[in-house]
Amino acid sequence: MEEIRVNLKKTEDKSYNIVIHEGVLKEIPSKLKEAGLGHKFAIITDSTVESLYGTDLSEGFTKNDLENKIISFPPGEQNKNRDTKAWIEDQMLENKFARDSVVIALGGGVVGDIAGYVAASYTRGLPYVQIPTTLVACVDSSIGGKTAVDTAHGKNLIGAFHQPWAVYIDVNTLLTLNDKEIREGLAETIKYGVISDDELFSFLEGNMHLIFSYDKKALTHIIKRGCQIKAEVVEKDEKESNLRKILNFGHTIGHAVENLSEYKISHGAAISIGMVAEGKLAVEMGLWNEEELNKLIKLFNKASLPTQIPEYMDANDIIDTMKLDKKSRSGQIEMVLPKRIGEMALIDKSYGIKIEESLIEKMI
Ligand code: NAD
Ligand code: GLY
Repeated sequence: MEEIRVNLKKTEDKSYNIVIHEGVLKEIPSKLKEAGLGHKFAIITDSTVESLYGTDLSEGFTKNDLENKIISFPPGEQNKNRDTKAWIEDQMLENKFARDSVVIALGGGVVGDIAGYVAASYTRGLPYVQIPTTLVACVDSSIGGKTAVDTAHGKNLIGAFHQPWAVYIDVNTLLTLNDKEIREGLAETIKYGVISDDELFSFLEGNMHLIFSYDKKALTHIIKRGCQIKAEVVEKDEKESNLRKILNFGHTIGHAVENLSEYKISHGAAISIGMVAEGKLAVEMGLWNEEELNKLIKLFNKASLPTQIPEYMDANDIIDTMKLDKKSRSGQIEMVLPKRIGEMALIDKSYGIKIEESLIEKMI
């Protein structure tokens, strides 16, 4: 027998900056030119964001003598699929994007996830820059390198870890969002308060009116804290072996609720319901206290986010759906649960806590 070892143990620096700066959108082309990141830029976006910001961004690249092309697809989660990914890749191939190219993801989480996945696989990997334009994308999806598309079997099942080269956040782009999209981002921001930052939680309790008035200072504050928290977690556990699981608070029950509603309940609303349901389990298990759970419910009420599992949903269906979730291990349901506002429970050095089905049934 001949045995040849391929030695690939190496440390790779994938660090990047998240720039949060009002008006930065206009400055991005010159910044990328200065960095010498590439020669040709594929600006991947959806048609709504294209008309709001894409055309101006493309002109900025052109003014800086940087070759670029907008590749835009219709907005919506239903388009975050393999067909759209293939269509984007075909556009890039036809327009001769090669290894010296850069992907620009301009938009919400749908654009960021699909453009990131294109970047992960096109010519075996291109650098990409995230320019998030929704609150969800600013505080969550643009950071951490999870890229994916959905399939008929579930959301985000096909994808790759591929960290962006940089993230640029311009709070001005959030001013064209509607309240529903702000609520979607608030659900994730409230989650950060519970899992990691009691001060952020208190800030949200006292300043919800400012967020819904699109106050730039308040928005910038929650974006900055959201980015810091996500960055700290990803730095310690990029591939979700333990700590990163805390970002899934509310998502185990939340995904089941979202799925069983046939996606009529939005992700933000579903995870709010999920955080309250999982919080109730934490109280039932003696990990958390009821007083703080009630504070969480009150905060969701302030944000007009729902907190109750819809009556038409059956406990067994919720349990069966959770077992199929990619977060479950060998069919056993796992959740992350709070210990106090600002800290998650750790049992036997693990944040992922196995939950008995009978307890979930009783709680629902
Ligand atoms: P989205 O990308 O569908 O955007 C929501 C809507 O807002 C779209 O219609 C879009 O066209 C519009 N829009 C975007 N920016 C706008 C702006 N500035 N003004 C007006 N309209 C604007 O949804 P989302 O909530 O941003 O992201 C949800 C997606 O993110 C899901 O697919 C989810 O799986 C993914 N996600 C990924 C991660 C991750 O770590 N990769 C984390 C959280 C969520
Ligand atoms: N949104 C969950 C994560 O990035 O891990």
